[in-house]
Amino acid sequence: MTRPKEPTYYGDYLELNKLLDSQNPKSAIYGNESHDETLFIIVHQVYELWFKQILHEFKSISSFLSEPKLEDGKLATIVARLDRIKKIQSLLLDQLTVMESMTPMDFLEFRDLLVPASGFQSVQFREVEVLMGLRTHNRKQVDREYFLGRLNEEDKNRILNIEKEKSVLDLIQDWLERMPFAKQGNFDFWTEYQEAVQKMMDSDESIIKDNLATLNDIQKEAQLNNLESTKKTFESLLDEKSHQEQVNKGKRKLSQKATLNALFILLFRNEPLLHLPYLFLNSLIDIDENFTTWRYRHALMAHRLLGTKIGTGGSSGHHYLKMAADNNRVYEDLFNLSTFILPRNLLPELPEELRKDLHFHFESRTKN
Ligand code: HEM
Repeated sequence: MTRPKEPTYYGDYLELNKLLDSQNPKSAIYGNESHDETLFIIVHQVYELWFKQILHEFKSISSFLSEPKLEDGKLATIVARLDRIKKIQSLLLDQLTVMESMTPMDFLEFRDLLVPASGFQSVQFREVEVLMGLRTHNRKQVDREYFLGRLNEEDKNRILNIEKEKSVLDLIQDWLERMPFAKQGNFDFWTEYQEAVQKMMDSDESIIKDNLATLNDIQKEAQLNNLESTKKTFESLLDEKSHQEQVNKGKRKLSQKATLNALFILLFRNEPLLHLPYLFLNSLIDIDENFTTWRYRHALMAHRLLGTKIGTGGSSGHHYLKMAADNNRVYEDLFNLSTFILPRNLLPELPEELRKDLHFHFESRTKN
């Protein structure tokens, strides 16, 4: 590529005239400028810029994952980009403290001028949610109505069109389903895993029975019921039909095959070939946790600034936001895998051939 002839000028390159000419407080237009409205605008604009960068990272991750075969180098790039998203998220969390330097009374000076605009209309925030894998049908009824009902037609169609594409969650499922290790030749890891689970349950049951004498009837019944429900949870993982029932009820999102392969990665994360896949899954868990933390912190900020007043977008405010934080987790299935982790001493041994496949091999150089 040929170098530009003209020297690059800082302000032109960054288009600062456009950027810095985009803070226009409404209170000034109505004749009595509120000092804090500039802060309110700038904080939102900075959020939108970071949302743009997060989308840029997620879109590149989606395009890598859409390829029929994910090369190792690309997986390393995906993990690095997810790590960047995590770093941006920590800024997003910190930025709430800047917003909270505004008092409820200062906010009231210009709040009415914003109605009915609200964060409901942050199309980029919706785009991040949808791209990650939160679908309209996964939302609670009230959330679904606000989600679609507050956007103009153009923005609504933009989001609905993105929803027709595969999300990062769908693509992770495809990638996990392609993973070959758990079944090789005569070896079926899950048969051995099931036996290990049985041993663990038998041992738990005998501990409870040994302790029965020290418990009253209600405690005995509660402990045995808990054990029974843990057994059922394991059964619902290992039996395809039961797993599918959980998916149909909306309690799980990933297919059984993808879930089992994700669990295999977590169980054998120290095997060299599985370490990068483990970092990948762990980063997704971090990102989901960071978004959820942001949602709770944002709900607290709304409580602090509004009390129990309704939001400018018409929701119940703090209560609505808390409900959305509770219900809009995307990678919950990956969090739930911890239920199925076994203690190291019960973990089935992998056959030698498979262990070799999961290791890097460096032959030692023999001296002449
Ligand atoms: C004075 C500061 C803020 C207050 C009092 C506040 C309050 C609220 C309230 C009450 C809602 C619910 C919708 C409604 O009824 O309006 C909401 C939604 C939302 N706000 Fe804020 N907000 C503030 C700042 C921010 C900032 C800086 C961002 C960053 C972009 C943001 C992003 C959002 C998003 C994305 C939603 C939709 C959440 C969802 O539906 O799950 N808000 N906000």
